Amino acid sequence: MISQELNDSLTRVGPGTDAGRVLRQYWQPAALSDELMVPRPVVPVTLLGERLVLFRDETGALGLIGRHCPHRGADMCFGRLEDNGLRCPFHGWHFDRSGQCIEQPGEPEGGRMHENIRTTSYPVVEKNGIIWAYMGQGTPPAFPNFDCFRAPDTHVFAFKGLWECNWLQAMEVGIDPAHASFLHRFLEDEDPADSYGKQFRDKAGNTNIPMTKLLRDYPRPEILVDDTDYGLKLTALRRMDDGRTHVRVTNQIFPETICIPMSREMTITQWHVPIDDTHCYWYSMFTSFGKPVDKAVMREQRLKEHRLPDYAPLKNARNNYGYNPEEQKRETYTGMGLDINVHDQWAVESMGAIQDRTQEHLGKTDIGIIRYRRMLRAAIENARAGKFDALPMCNGVDPATLYGPLSNDAIAADENWESANATTDAERRASCPWDAKV
Ligand code: FES
Ligand SMILES: [Fe+2]
Repeated sequence: MISQELNDSLTRVGPGTDAGRVLRQYWQPAALSDELMVPRPVVPVTLLGERLVLFRDETGALGLIGRHCPHRGADMCFGRLEDNGLRCPFHGWHFDRSGQCIEQPGEPEGGRMHENIRTTSYPVVEKNGIIWAYMGQGTPPAFPNFDCFRAPDTHVFAFKGLWECNWLQAMEVGIDPAHASFLHRFLEDEDPADSYGKQFRDKAGNTNIPMTKLLRDYPRPEILVDDTDYGLKLTALRRMDDGRTHVRVTNQIFPETICIPMSREMTITQWHVPIDDTHCYWYSMFTSFGKPVDKAVMREQRLKEHRLPDYAPLKNARNNYGYNPEEQKRETYTGMGLDINVHDQWAVESMGAIQDRTQEHLGKTDIGIIRYRRMLRAAIENARAGKFDALPMCNGVDPATLYGPLSNDAIAADENWESANATTDAERRASCPWDAKV
């Protein structure tokens, strides 16, 4: 349990808030590249409680500026995309990508008032299917050399989905390795032929045991948490009856990202990005260490479950997440279908818009959550004191030296799980067509 004051400090994201100040020091996913692949590339973006508009001008350059015109507040999303900027349809004021007003066509000829009018604007870059914004102080940090950024575009598929809850509870489901044995339990194992692009549908490690069976049979993992340069490394060990050990390594990348194995060939790097205090998007980069990703198939699978343009899931609180008590009896632990994302969405949305952590009771398996909150609290203290270079990945560690992180699933023949895990990871990297750095 924590105090209401601390819960507010950890969860709220608007300008000037504790967690908001920390999150702003990192590149944030603002939109999928897909969203701008339309005849008129202008989309609304709400990020960390700030209302913005993202556009691509005639030269292909990106701009992210304030949503409301500094003249009288009209919505720039309906702006005219012309003259390498965005023009407000109300009185024609024109803004360039830096947010500078460069013309006020209705004001008296020769006026220079526009020189002093500037709307909010943030730097943006595009990388492997996602457009990123930096909303913090000072120069934006370099991108880490993580697999999802180093892999060529052919080997990364990016998608997103809306969750109607605070970002922190969304992120915390990803650093809780114990829940997979329950929330995602399949009472019967599925045909693996149907598993492409889905989590927990592969065989466990280097065995023939379906991952779903292993999670079901061994529900009490031993969880180890290590501090790293990027955040936390979580190792979940499941001791099997025959003496072998199942090892699953996942990561928390500070501040709001997790990196997890999806199958032997793919990892998922997932950001839990605050829209505002009570809504967030997950942005996932699915990175293949083998064949190029089949983006058409992966997009089609996910578009069956989401509506555009806001990427809201079709199963949600309004239709009880498709809950079916018969299915809960016979097929799945939740009764909410086979899509693991829906299970996680129910878990985090059902806590309420912002989880009331004054009422929770954390157990031993919540060690990842406890350690993460400690890290976030320290970052909040440093950011409050203006010590931005003391934050994780800003503290003298050159992000370009950060590789991996190792996110893996393996079975060790004996107690020696560390070397079994390293070997499986090294083998995967050795056969990876784009990975020159092991
Ligand atoms: S409100 Fe935008 S130009 Fe007047
Ligand atoms: Fe989950």
